[in-house]
Amino acid sequence: MKRIITFGTFDVFHVGHVNILERARNLGDHLTVGVSSDALNFSKKNRYPIYCQDDRLKIISSLKFVDDVFLEESLELKDIYIKKKQANILVMGDDWLGRFDWVKDKTDCDVIYLERTPAISTTQVIEIVKRI
Ligand code: CTP
Repeated sequence: MKRIITFGTFDVFHVGHVNILERARNLGDHLTVGVSSDALNFSKKNRYPIYCQDDRLKIISSLKFVDDVFLEESLELKDIYIKKKQANILVMGDDWLGRFDWVKDKTDCDVIYLERTPAISTTQVIEIVKRI
Protein backbone atom coordinates (compact mmCIF):
# COMPACT_ATOMS: atom_id res chain seq x y z
CA MET A 1 0.00 0.00 0.00
CA LYS A 2 1.45 3.35 -1.07
CA ARG A 3 0.66 6.25 1.25
CA ILE A 4 0.72 9.83 -0.06
CA ILE A 5 0.90 13.02 1.99
CA THR A 6 0.47 16.65 0.96
CA PHE A 7 0.17 19.99 2.72
CA GLY A 8 -1.49 23.34 2.11
CA THR A 9 -3.81 26.05 3.39
CA PHE A 10 -6.64 25.30 0.93
CA ASP A 11 -8.39 28.58 1.75
CA VAL A 12 -11.32 29.67 -0.47
CA PHE A 13 -11.34 26.20 -2.01
CA HIS A 14 -10.94 26.20 -5.81
CA VAL A 15 -10.36 23.83 -8.75
CA GLY A 16 -6.54 24.05 -8.47
CA HIS A 17 -6.90 22.49 -5.01
CA VAL A 18 -9.18 19.75 -6.36
CA ASN A 19 -6.72 18.98 -9.16
CA ILE A 20 -3.66 18.58 -6.95
CA LEU A 21 -5.49 16.47 -4.37
CA GLU A 22 -6.97 14.24 -7.07
CA ARG A 23 -3.59 13.77 -8.79
CA ALA A 24 -1.85 13.16 -5.44
CA ARG A 25 -4.35 10.45 -4.52
CA ASN A 26 -3.91 8.81 -7.94
CA LEU A 27 -0.19 8.32 -7.18
CA GLY A 28 -1.04 5.80 -4.43
CA ASP A 29 -3.71 4.13 -2.32
CA HIS A 30 -4.17 6.51 0.59
CA LEU A 31 -3.98 10.33 0.84
CA THR A 32 -3.27 12.28 4.03
CA VAL A 33 -3.60 16.07 3.90
CA GLY A 34 -1.91 18.41 6.37
CA VAL A 35 -4.05 21.56 6.49
CA SER A 36 -2.07 24.61 7.61
CA SER A 37 -3.33 26.14 10.85
CA ASP A 38 -4.58 29.74 10.98
CA ALA A 39 -1.48 30.71 13.00
CA LEU A 40 0.90 29.08 10.50
CA ASN A 41 -0.84 30.85 7.64
CA PHE A 42 -0.49 34.17 9.45
CA SER A 43 3.23 33.61 9.95
CA LYS A 44 3.63 32.63 6.26
CA LYS A 45 1.45 35.20 4.50
CA ASN A 46 0.89 37.88 7.14
CA ARG A 47 -2.89 37.46 6.99
CA TYR A 48 -5.40 35.03 8.40
CA PRO A 49 -7.28 32.77 5.98
CA ILE A 50 -10.83 33.71 5.03
CA TYR A 51 -12.07 30.29 6.18
CA CYS A 52 -10.97 29.22 9.68
CA GLN A 53 -8.95 26.03 10.16
CA ASP A 54 -11.90 23.96 11.41
CA ASP A 55 -13.91 24.81 8.29
CA ARG A 56 -10.94 24.12 5.99
CA LEU A 57 -10.37 20.76 7.71
CA LYS A 58 -14.05 19.91 7.26
CA ILE A 59 -14.03 20.84 3.56
CA ILE A 60 -10.86 18.85 2.78
CA SER A 61 -11.98 15.79 4.77
CA SER A 62 -15.26 15.69 2.82
CA LEU A 63 -13.48 15.02 -0.51
CA LYS A 64 -13.74 11.51 -1.96
CA PHE A 65 -10.00 11.28 -2.73
CA VAL A 66 -8.89 12.37 0.77
CA ASP A 67 -8.55 9.62 3.39
CA ASP A 68 -7.12 11.49 6.38
CA VAL A 69 -6.62 15.11 7.48
CA PHE A 70 -4.74 16.79 10.30
CA LEU A 71 -3.67 20.29 11.30
CA GLU A 72 -0.18 21.33 10.18
CA GLU A 73 1.26 23.65 12.84
CA SER A 74 4.78 24.21 11.44
CA LEU A 75 6.42 24.04 7.99
CA GLU A 76 9.60 22.63 9.51
CA LEU A 77 7.93 19.55 11.03
CA LYS A 78 7.28 17.85 7.70
CA ASP A 79 9.62 14.93 8.53
CA ILE A 80 7.86 14.34 11.87
CA TYR A 81 4.40 14.37 10.27
CA ILE A 82 5.61 12.10 7.45
CA LYS A 83 6.95 9.50 9.88
CA LYS A 84 3.84 9.68 12.06
CA LYS A 85 1.57 9.19 9.05
CA GLN A 86 3.90 6.56 7.50
CA ALA A 87 3.86 8.35 4.15
CA ASN A 88 5.87 7.01 1.17
CA ILE A 89 5.50 10.05 -1.11
CA LEU A 90 5.30 13.76 -0.27
CA VAL A 91 3.45 15.69 -2.99
CA MET A 92 3.75 19.46 -3.27
CA GLY A 93 2.78 21.96 -5.98
CA ASP A 94 5.70 23.16 -8.09
CA ASP A 95 5.50 26.61 -6.46
CA TRP A 96 7.50 24.76 -3.74
CA LEU A 97 10.00 23.22 -6.20
CA GLY A 98 13.13 22.05 -4.35
CA ARG A 99 12.01 23.48 -1.00
CA PHE A 100 11.29 20.10 0.60
CA ASP A 101 14.05 17.97 -0.94
CA TRP A 102 15.62 17.79 2.55
CA VAL A 103 12.76 15.48 3.57
CA LYS A 104 14.33 12.70 1.43
CA ASP A 105 17.43 12.69 3.65
CA LYS A 106 15.51 12.59 6.92
CA THR A 107 12.82 10.02 6.02
CA ASP A 108 12.21 7.15 3.58
CA CYS A 109 9.73 9.37 1.75
CA ASP A 110 10.08 10.43 -1.91
CA VAL A 111 9.24 14.03 -2.83
CA ILE A 112 7.26 14.82 -5.98
CA TYR A 113 6.34 18.32 -7.18
CA LEU A 114 3.24 18.50 -9.38
CA GLU A 115 2.57 21.27 -11.86
CA ARG A 116 0.14 23.87 -10.55
CA THR A 117 -3.18 24.42 -12.32
CA PRO A 118 -2.61 27.58 -14.39
CA ALA A 119 -4.38 30.88 -13.79
CA ILE A 120 -6.05 30.31 -10.43
CA SER A 121 -5.08 30.90 -6.82
CA THR A 122 -6.77 31.81 -3.56
CA THR A 123 -5.05 35.20 -3.58
CA GLN A 124 -6.28 35.87 -7.11
CA VAL A 125 -9.88 34.90 -6.24
CA ILE A 126 -9.81 37.22 -3.20
CA GLU A 127 -8.49 40.10 -5.35
CA ILE A 128 -11.19 39.55 -8.01
CA VAL A 129 -13.98 39.46 -5.41
CA LYS A 130 -12.61 42.64 -3.78
CA ARG A 131 -12.89 44.50 -7.11
CA ILE A 132 -16.53 43.49 -7.79
N1 CTP B 1 -2.22 24.55 -6.09
C1 CTP B 1 -2.20 24.10 -7.42
N2 CTP B 1 -2.68 24.89 -8.43
C2 CTP B 1 -3.16 26.13 -8.14
C3 CTP B 1 -3.20 26.61 -6.81
C4 CTP B 1 -2.72 25.79 -5.80
O1 CTP B 1 -1.74 22.98 -7.70
N3 CTP B 1 -3.58 26.88 -9.15
C5 CTP B 1 -1.67 23.70 -5.05
C6 CTP B 1 -0.45 24.31 -4.37
O2 CTP B 1 0.71 24.10 -5.15
C7 CTP B 1 -0.42 23.57 -3.06
C8 CTP B 1 -1.92 23.32 -2.76
O3 CTP B 1 -2.62 23.54 -4.00
O4 CTP B 1 0.25 22.33 -3.21
C9 CTP B 1 -2.45 24.26 -1.70
O5 CTP B 1 -2.09 25.56 -2.11
P1 CTP B 1 -2.52 26.89 -1.36
O6 CTP B 1 -1.30 27.70 -1.08
O7 CTP B 1 -3.42 26.59 -0.24
O8 CTP B 1 -3.39 27.58 -2.52
P2 CTP B 1 -3.11 28.85 -3.42
O9 CTP B 1 -4.28 29.01 -4.31
O10 CTP B 1 -1.75 28.75 -4.07
O11 CTP B 1 -3.12 30.01 -2.32
P3 CTP B 1 -2.44 31.45 -2.29
O12 CTP B 1 -2.92 32.20 -3.47
O13 CTP B 1 -2.95 32.05 -0.98
O14 CTP B 1 -0.94 31.23 -2.27
